[in-house]
Amino acid sequence: MLAMNFRGPFRVRADRDRPYPEIEHPEDAIVRVLRTCICGSDLHLYHGLVPDTRVGSTFGHEFIGEVVEIGSAVEKLTVGDRVMVPFNIACGKCAFCKQELYGNCHEANPGATAAGGIFGYSHTAGGYHGGQAEYVRVPYADVGPTVIPEWMDPDDAVLLTDVVPTGYQAAEMGGIQPGDTVVVFGAGPIGIMAAKCAWLFGAGRVIVIDELDYRLDFVKDYAQCEVYKFTELEDPVVFLKQTTDSLGADVCIDAVGCEAAGNTMNTLLGRKLLLQGGSTTALHWAINGVKKGGIVSIVGVYGPIDALVPIGNVVNKGITIRANQASVKRLLPRLIEHVKNGIIDPKAIITHRIPLEEVAEGYHIFSRKLDNCIKPVLIPPSA
Ligand SMILES: NC(=O)c1ccc[n+]([C@@H]2O[C@H](COP(=O)([O-])OP(=O)(O)OC[C@H]3O[C@@H](n4cnc5c(N)ncnc54)[C@H](O)[C@@H]3O)[C@@H](O)[C@H]2O)c1
Ligand SMILES: [Zn+2]
Ligand SMILES: [Zn+2]
Repeated sequence: MLAMNFRGPFRVRADRDRPYPEIEHPEDAIVRVLRTCICGSDLHLYHGLVPDTRVGSTFGHEFIGEVVEIGSAVEKLTVGDRVMVPFNIACGKCAFCKQELYGNCHEANPGATAAGGIFGYSHTAGGYHGGQAEYVRVPYADVGPTVIPEWMDPDDAVLLTDVVPTGYQAAEMGGIQPGDTVVVFGAGPIGIMAAKCAWLFGAGRVIVIDELDYRLDFVKDYAQCEVYKFTELEDPVVFLKQTTDSLGADVCIDAVGCEAAGNTMNTLLGRKLLLQGGSTTALHWAINGVKKGGIVSIVGVYGPIDALVPIGNVVNKGITIRANQASVKRLLPRLIEHVKNGIIDPKAIITHRIPLEEVAEGYHIFSRKLDNCIKPVLIPPSA
């Protein structure tokens, strides 16, 4: 079959001779992929920042498709169902899944202490092949996959597998109180959704900070928020104090993660020399820009090793930090309703539709932020 094939940092290609996935466990299903996205998280793999990303692996944790085969123990799905598949691989039975912490399943990635299982996200996240392929094996098929409602546009459905739940959870973890000033660092797909969702929790003011004009222009309109370019602010932290009566923001959301720009030392230590678990610039700004007693919500991804953050300020300001991989399955019922009622329009962020055969070009465009790219969707030839 045709699938994306990782050859090393900055080198991916589409190969036609990749083996078809097979049922390996009675609870597996095989899904024929109809849409799959490239995510900011895939860029961390593509840029060689995620440990144990093996040559020959297929990325892709955002996909929808049609069930073409089921294992003997699968009860909730039938062949022909069209499903959205959460990016988390979760057993549904362990202590963490029982708390609906589907991003922290204890069974899907038994070799690890931190990360749960994620499709197409290196052996650090379980070593599962991903959905940037014509077909994909879906473990625990009765747990994650959710039948796509008849009325739902497939472009909306594919964004419900990660982007919308992650943005929503970023806002949710912020514990936003009515009237709060919420600052979102990052105007990528995740930051855009976090800004949009902040209003649903009662924010009184939403500010988004990035350096890319085209993304800031988009989110300003899409999420009706204020936008600022950090390259035009002398110091984003000082600016945040100035615009909040010297107090700081009530809630800061890090929707940037380990590849943050804006500070040469962090870029050098975290992205070039790999001496810390990523560049912590946005997180630094979030901690220092939030008010005393405020909340910092982190959905940006960082590596497992130590990273420099102003932990003394966290203690002395009494900040609450909340962070996690999004628990997609937990959030799907309410987010499906929000899409149905027109409260969230996920597909509006899609800027590029790229044949899976041109996956290398897709990564290049999205990685370099060319052609005003916000969210690229890959379409397999068999879709
Ligand atoms: N926790 C989860 O479940 C989860 C799920 C999906 C994605 N993520 C993570 O969320 C992050 C964002 O994903 P995305 O798809 O939107 O990525 P993206 O690469 O499209 O967007 C990141 C944005 O951050 C901006 N940026 C860089 N440095 C900045 C800084 N110092 N301050 C403000 N903005 C800055 C970039 O210009 C870019 O627009 C990534 O780290 C990704 O891995 C987490
Ligand atoms: Zn993703
Ligand atoms: Zn589990």
